[in-house]
Amino acid sequence: MSHQIDIEKIRADFPILSRKVNGHPLVYFDNAATSQTPKAVIYAIVEYYEGYNANIHRGVHSLSQEATDAYEEARETIRAHFNAEKKEEIIFTSGTTHGINLVANGFASELKVGDEVIVSALEHHSNIVPWQMLCEKTGATLKVIPMTESGELNLDAYEELLSEHTKLVFVNHVSNALGTVNDIERIITKAHQKGAAVLIDGAQAAPHIKADVQALDVDFYVVSGHKMCGPTGVGVLYGKEEWLTKLPPYQGGGEMIDQVTFEKTTYAGLPHKFEAGTPNICGGIALGKAIDYLNAIGFETIAAYEHELLTYATEQLLEIEGVKIYGTSKEKTAVISFNIEGIHPYDIGTIIDKLGIAVRTGHHCAQPIMDYYKIPGTVRASFSFYNTKEEIDAFIQAVKRAKVMLS
Ligand SMILES: Cc1ncc(COP(=O)(O)O)c(C=O)c1O
Repeated sequence: MSHQIDIEKIRADFPILSRKVNGHPLVYFDNAATSQTPKAVIYAIVEYYEGYNANIHRGVHSLSQEATDAYEEARETIRAHFNAEKKEEIIFTSGTTHGINLVANGFASELKVGDEVIVSALEHHSNIVPWQMLCEKTGATLKVIPMTESGELNLDAYEELLSEHTKLVFVNHVSNALGTVNDIERIITKAHQKGAAVLIDGAQAAPHIKADVQALDVDFYVVSGHKMCGPTGVGVLYGKEEWLTKLPPYQGGGEMIDQVTFEKTTYAGLPHKFEAGTPNICGGIALGKAIDYLNAIGFETIAAYEHELLTYATEQLLEIEGVKIYGTSKEKTAVISFNIEGIHPYDIGTIIDKLGIAVRTGHHCAQPIMDYYKIPGTVRASFSFYNTKEEIDAFIQAVKRAKVMLS
């Protein structure tokens, strides 16, 4: 196989890929919702619980020390992966949603009536709702970068929205519903020229694109572990040290304090100020292993192979009469959102599941995109580096069968 992907070896790393669903070999094309887990990550979880499960940071005993060292090593792996300048800028969260809420909560003390914040039309609900709540609290105004028919952002319109009132811009790196890769370099540069901070939702980019937060000069970058071969319930917020120092803590509790008296509490330094309570220790360690696993394959190799899958699947799908693909941006990750004329996406998803094929149907937590296209939802097939062209063939056959049954 080209691009040096040893697909047999890679697939052997993912035990779940050899199971059957409804009597058929599993074809897992729901990777944008959650990725599958390689043995290296599964074993890290088992090793943790079998070998050194203990609470971290505050124990003098050996087990606690081992767990702390492994957790902090994972933080260093994550720092190096995203090229953050300092380990203190890496905050463990429970996922992208948590990271965004943490920042939105912090900005409550930064915004006032008359201030403006900018979102895009391509966002997942978790990069919309927390900011609406923030605007309700502060009286700031939410502005929206419009999208185009091809599922791209109109960045000329974005530049018109920017003004000296703009305080914050929050946009995803990659759209979960359409796969569009946004020009975040331009978005960040233009926001900074107006003095606004930028949060990038990297949930969908993280499994495909290695973001360099220093090169991007981004203020905040958030990801979820479970979309990048890690476990659920763990994620990362990168924040520039100056911002994280300035923003107030999100939650109060153990771990995030320096001194507590009934008169006054002082907070711990970074990153602990934002990590109240016992964290997902095992999840953090396992996420470090997932990142090592992805880097061992290499992000360029992953991107090239997934692009091949995307091109192959797009061509095959477009040969089926009545298929319309939503999201035709030139820069796309391996996501195909589509409908077949006259057929509800849910019905296609249900029928092809009977043939072992897992896709997502619905609005993909991106209702404004569906409203733009005036559709209730789409069928979304999202590919990963462990998928194959043979699986795409099975998927195409299944879609054809569903079409015959539903027409
Ligand atoms: C672009 C994007 N942002 C945010 C999220 C929310 O991630 P999580 O549910 O892991 O917090 C998702 C999940 O699908 C997503 O695709």
